[in-house]
Amino acid sequence: MPTLTINGMNVDVPQGTTILNAAKEVGVEIPHYCYHPKLSIAGNCRMCLVEIEKFPKLQTACSTVVNDGMVVRTDTDKVRKAVTGVLELMLIHHPIDCPICDQAGECGLQNYYMKFGLHRSRYALEEKVHKKKVQDIGGQIVLDAERCILCSRCVRFLTEVTGTRELDFFSRGDHSEISIFPGKPLSNNYTGNLADICPVGALTSKDFRFKCRVWFLKAFDSICTGCSKGCNVDAHHKGDILYRLKPRWNDAVNQAWMCDFGRLTYKAMNEARLLTPFMREEGARKVAAWGSLLPDVAFRLKAAAEKGGPDRVAVIASPQSSNEELFLLRRLATELLGTKNLAFTHRVAGDGFADDFLIRADKNPNSRGAQLLGIPDGEAFDALVSKIAAGGIDALLVFGNVLGPLSEEETAALLSDVPLVVQVGTNEGPVSKAATAVLPSASVAERGGTFTNHAGRVQRFRFGFPPRGKAKNPVEILVALGNRLGAGWTFAGEASVFKAIAGTEPPFSGMSYDSIGMFGQEIKG
Ligand code: SF4
Ligand code: SF4
Ligand code: FES
Repeated sequence: MPTLTINGMNVDVPQGTTILNAAKEVGVEIPHYCYHPKLSIAGNCRMCLVEIEKFPKLQTACSTVVNDGMVVRTDTDKVRKAVTGVLELMLIHHPIDCPICDQAGECGLQNYYMKFGLHRSRYALEEKVHKKKVQDIGGQIVLDAERCILCSRCVRFLTEVTGTRELDFFSRGDHSEISIFPGKPLSNNYTGNLADICPVGALTSKDFRFKCRVWFLKAFDSICTGCSKGCNVDAHHKGDILYRLKPRWNDAVNQAWMCDFGRLTYKAMNEARLLTPFMREEGARKVAAWGSLLPDVAFRLKAAAEKGGPDRVAVIASPQSSNEELFLLRRLATELLGTKNLAFTHRVAGDGFADDFLIRADKNPNSRGAQLLGIPDGEAFDALVSKIAAGGIDALLVFGNVLGPLSEEETAALLSDVPLVVQVGTNEGPVSKAATAVLPSASVAERGGTFTNHAGRVQRFRFGFPPRGKAKNPVEILVALGNRLGAGWTFAGEASVFKAIAGTEPPFSGMSYDSIGMFGQEIKG
């Protein structure tokens, strides 16, 4: 392990470490633009220049590997002058856009100018070279070519990660600019990542631009619900409105990336939400209070199980539910209602598109969790649907907003003859249109819990903000219903439910929220 000194501090780092990464170990910030930990090293921006003893010239910290005994300084006048000079050069032709630029607040140029620049420009405003602005280049991206600092992160991402190579540099000298090839827009499923990696306001997100200044946003750790990959994300919100999802780094799952479809899944948490509990009477929705609706629903479910026998009661679970919710739901169905009619389906309407990178065909975050918790999928779901269609069910409890791949018409036809359909769901949809009673559920941003991804990795999603409207955490709904059915449950929140799962369900045995941590934990076996 080589030992070097950086600004007088000794540091031991593994062989092959670059100076830029060694500096991080001792808390020394070396400014950089073109370097990105998940892309190859280009060494073209020259922002990371450092002084190394016995080297005649300044060296780039991102591309220089440490040697034993190296003496590095990042705090000398020579380095400061060089870095300020690089910034000044980059800003010569940069437009004076900060007040109207959507990158403001998270722009590498703004931030480094305040820390390492603060120079007076020696260049006349009128002589700036102008390039194309506000171009829709396809995917989720808008390009403002004159803000680009030619760092090539986007080019390397499209070469090394997606392999689609839609962007490149054109022209020479100060007319050099980033662009797509004529008539060939971005065409891959990961374009949103370009806005994340562009260090300036050249590539911005079509969806997020001008929706909210970034300094008003707060973030919390979450998991994308768009497919069974379970990409780790940071969810950004202001109050109870979600504004964007960004990939949270997890080398075991999504590295530093997420797909375009997943990036927009936050919208369902803002729009067409079920916000008030209601009962349907003579076809019309009547708003109900939780205090009366929960006992009423529990009473009717119990009455149906007693009158026609447990076989005339059914429960459809959702692979969008957490492990904690599925565990309680299974117990409610099998132990409290005593029915064997319990199933879910991982299938959804649509093509189930998948690729060989992140995107999985199963468009649910927790099908694996449902299977591991003993809730049957596939044929069991089809058999249950047939039983409902044949008039064999008097009371049905449904979690989720859709019945798998069934269309709105098919769902309406299936549920129209069931005397009691109780839904616990987040959004208006085929099920809420047909349900007799709707119990509005907190979205994934408004509650906490765990999902098990396709590979058996149990991952936590965190509470971001309180449920919108009168929606409730489904764990709370299940505990209240369970106790009305005689469970005597004392669970207080998802953490206590997970403890019970870890104590009784072999795949999860010994796990805890602590052991799952930030990056998840694989199930045993
Ligand atoms: S568009 Fe952004 S990421 Fe691409 S080269 Fe320019 S500054 Fe770098
Ligand atoms: S690959 Fe799946 S989990 Fe990852 S961002 Fe896309 S939809 Fe979400
Ligand atoms: S970060 Fe080192 S040259 Fe760009």
